[in-house]
Amino acid sequence: MARLGKLLLLPGDGIGPEVMAEVKKLLGWLAEHEGTTFAVEEDLVGGAALDAHGSPIADSTMEKAKAADAVIFGAVGATKHDANPFHLKPEQGLLRLRKDLGLFANLRPAMVFPALADASSLKPDLVDGLDILILRELTGGVYFGEPRGIEDLGDGRKRAIDTQVYTTTEIERIARVAFELSKKRAGRVTSVEKANVMHTGILWREVVTRVGRDEFPEVELSHMYADNCAMQLIRRPKQFDVIVTDNLFGDLLSDAAAMATGSLGMLPSASLGALGGGGRRKSLFEPVHGSAPDIAGQGKANPLAMLLSFAMALRYAFDQGGLADRVEAAIASVLDRGWRTPDIMQPGKRAATTAQMGDAVLAELG
Ligand code: IPM
Ligand code: MG
Repeated sequence: MARLGKLLLLPGDGIGPEVMAEVKKLLGWLAEHEGTTFAVEEDLVGGAALDAHGSPIADSTMEKAKAADAVIFGAVGATKHDANPFHLKPEQGLLRLRKDLGLFANLRPAMVFPALADASSLKPDLVDGLDILILRELTGGVYFGEPRGIEDLGDGRKRAIDTQVYTTTEIERIARVAFELSKKRAGRVTSVEKANVMHTGILWREVVTRVGRDEFPEVELSHMYADNCAMQLIRRPKQFDVIVTDNLFGDLLSDAAAMATGSLGMLPSASLGALGGGGRRKSLFEPVHGSAPDIAGQGKANPLAMLLSFAMALRYAFDQGGLADRVEAAIASVLDRGWRTPDIMQPGKRAATTAQMGDAVLAELG
């Protein structure tokens, strides 16, 4: 038996626990068929943690996350907590994990499985064979910038402030990840900001240009304004290889890219920290979709983004690229065989519940 390391499972809210159940089945399969095991712990985050102990993530959970080789994350967000004060919103659990673990590089690959080219809201020829990577800066920008908050102006009016802020160092390190990743792909990086209206955009463009010129001359670098990029993603998504962008633009553009792949239920992500001692880095893997409270508990959730996120964990946290390839190939075959959860359903295909989709993937793995 090969024990690969420590996993912390954080299913979270809504459909999070349902899609995480399929990861647990896959863990069982790996132990039984491959002799590959992990030390697995599970804990609460988001609305589930608020319900249990009044905080979106407990300090003890943060300690477990810091000790884990990889955090496998479901989703957070619960309607009953929508009106909570800012620091008690379920999303704060996820944002604290990203910030305190230093997970600055968020990889969001948007790939179209051949069987799903028709499921996209774009014409099949625009998305057939699509394989792009959105690299989102994840621990800076307007998500964390100070000052932030809502102040009372005392005359019945209020004033709300968020701050978009980036330093040279933050831009350099995400740029390096983008260039490195592109070398294993088509060797093209598109850097996205709004240098036409934002100071952070001007610095972003300046720093990415310098890092590219001095350290990665072999990579083809271009620049694009974020509004144009949103348009180009819908118009001709295959023009991109790696898109590197800030925290907020990355949030928006990755949802847009997801729809090109057929469904938000298909997009995985990996969030990585800097390389630490022993060649290890902190990491968290989560589907790009949210908690989808409207379909929670009905077996309608697509578990494939979650399973693909786990495949990314095998590849990036445990150096098991071969196993990751097999999980991804099994998912492609299951789609070829016509299995579809409601989000990707098409005429003449086989309707699958969340659990049936997970079972079909295991059956395909053999
Ligand atoms: C995402 C989500 C999160 C974000 C939310 C849940 C805080 O939309 O991971 O894309 O805005 O980053
Ligand atoms: Mg988002």
